Amino acid sequence: MSLQAAHNQSPTSPAGAPSDSSKALYGGKSNRRVTVHDIAAATARGEKWPMLTAYDAMTASVFDEAGIPVMLVGDSMGNCHLGYETTVPVTMDEIAILSAAVVRGTKRALVVADLPFGAYQESPVQALRNATRLIKESGVGAVKLEGGERSHEQIKLLVDAGIPVMAHIGLTPQSVNAMGYRVQGRGEEAAQQMLRDAKAVQDAGAFAVVLELVPAELAAEVTRTLHIPTVGIGAGPDTDAQVLVYTDMVGLTGGKVPRFTKQYADLRQILGDAAKAYADEVVGGTFPAPEHTFH
Ligand code: KIV
Repeated sequence: MSLQAAHNQSPTSPAGAPSDSSKALYGGKSNRRVTVHDIAAATARGEKWPMLTAYDAMTASVFDEAGIPVMLVGDSMGNCHLGYETTVPVTMDEIAILSAAVVRGTKRALVVADLPFGAYQESPVQALRNATRLIKESGVGAVKLEGGERSHEQIKLLVDAGIPVMAHIGLTPQSVNAMGYRVQGRGEEAAQQMLRDAKAVQDAGAFAVVLELVPAELAAEVTRTLHIPTVGIGAGPDTDAQVLVYTDMVGLTGGKVPRFTKQYADLRQILGDAAKAYADEVVGGTFPAPEHTFH
């Protein structure tokens, strides 16, 4: 069966698990580092797979032990970790340092690092120089960059140089100043452009493509059209994989979070309660207790 046919067929079980579950990308037995080939194979078997962002070694190690097979050191670190308002100010140095930390914190996950705004738009050669730095210095297994047709040459040069590339189309937050934060691909012309963008990144050699804030029906059509995996965020249930920003997923992000996100824990509450309990005990003189004290 061709990869295209396998990609387009229904999962081998209702839960999307492969017939040999020991090989599964999530929940399988392999302990070695996940590769882009494992990802292609999982998608060909009809498995859906999860991706999460991570920005530090400790959190990454928790997700790695939980079996998350792909970790993205996203430039969402700008607003979710570094205190910027958007992803736009994030620098190559920041991505390089935090990517290296995530690689050190993981044993199994494929770590994908974002190329930040300004690190690849100038030319394919600029993209290659910066992607090479992340591969050599930070030890990541792949890079991600935004843009469809407009990034075709960048993706092609990186892939030709042996660097796996995850593409990112739909809402591309690095263009927030031009685009705003709104659902992309609505209307016939925009939908056709999305399909052209998706095919362009596949033709350039990307091993997967993130679809952000795209109507579910269009994301499903892109997924049927491509043979590389689609990774949805705000793109409905029919993409091959899903990604969430981890601080949204665990309830750390303060204020309003996008409607497409789901909160699986309330770490903001838990951390706040722990800080207050500690402060109360310091003020009340009950911490440190004898068991925390040396003589
Ligand atoms: O930076 C990021 O976290 C991302 C995801 C939203 C896909 O690009």
